[in-house]
Amino acid sequence: MKRNVLYSILIAAFIIAAGFSVYFYQQAQAEDAKIAARVNSGEEIPQYHFTLIGEEVNHDYWRFVEEGAKTAEEDYDVFVEYKGPERSNPEEQLKLLDMAVQSKVDGIIVQALNEQFPPLINQAVEKGIPVITIDTNSSDNMAHTYIGTDNYMAGQLAGEALVEDTDGEAVVGVLSGSFDNSLHEQRVKGFTDIVEQEEGIEVAAVEESNISRVDVEEEAYNMLTANENITAFYGTSSYNGVGIVAAARSLEKEEDMYVITFDAIDENIELLENGGIHAIVDQQPFEMGYESVEKMLSIIEGNTVEDDYHTDVTIIRNADLPVGTNREDETS
Ligand code: BGC
Repeated sequence: MKRNVLYSILIAAFIIAAGFSVYFYQQAQAEDAKIAARVNSGEEIPQYHFTLIGEEVNHDYWRFVEEGAKTAEEDYDVFVEYKGPERSNPEEQLKLLDMAVQSKVDGIIVQALNEQFPPLINQAVEKGIPVITIDTNSSDNMAHTYIGTDNYMAGQLAGEALVEDTDGEAVVGVLSGSFDNSLHEQRVKGFTDIVEQEEGIEVAAVEESNISRVDVEEEAYNMLTANENITAFYGTSSYNGVGIVAAARSLEKEEDMYVITFDAIDENIELLENGGIHAIVDQQPFEMGYESVEKMLSIIEGNTVEDDYHTDVTIIRNADLPVGTNREDETS
């Protein structure tokens, strides 16, 4: 490589790293300023300060988690600082986690998204900061407890729903949110363990969508053109349904395509109402947020907690939608 090119790359890398540091420094300053403003206004400062770090700060699913945690603020003497990258970005999420560890908050609530998270989680625990993993767990971290979906079991539920809804006859395309994230791996494994037992079901391909709306449509499109006999899709990420339906629509295959995906976010509910999506694996993000604050306080008080607390997972179909919405049985 030419020396000039190498220098340019190094300078660009330096500028990006410096930019990140300034950004995180400013975020920390902004938080301090907020707390100082509350002290100056005479407002009482809550006894405990927890940091909750989501995967995508503005994603509807994480907003529900935040809402749960903020509701707990009304019931307990805590302040929950909610943070996360704009778009799924594990590196940035790790930086936020590092910042929370360095600023010695009273408790940290975070996913164990991939193998890079446990070392930092363990560092926090070793420093005396209690940690709760939320939404995604791993077996190799020292967090006090896990609160969230049993992702393997949720995958199994999705498999059972697909078997039931397709009468055990389908050629399935599986779209994982990410091959690097353990929760998606578990959701795929749970699903395939169930459908593999069915003679009439074939898994034609397993691909990843990078937790991105754009990538999922392109990937689903490629899967449909490479495997023309696909009759059903299983998506392990919230955005997968929307992209799968769009790809099937552009190939005029929407009518005959069975789709099951995760999370009752508005876009998925709308597609469930109009028939693009047939089933949704519904998690309990609000409850995860609320319970994680309650359990954190219990840990601080010295109580023993279980290794994990699995929140409910259910399958929602069109017929389960509330009366008055676009239920198929009411529109015919
Ligand atoms: C997952 C979260 C993820 C969110 C948005 C949910 O299904 O449980 O881990 O951050 O989707 O992609």
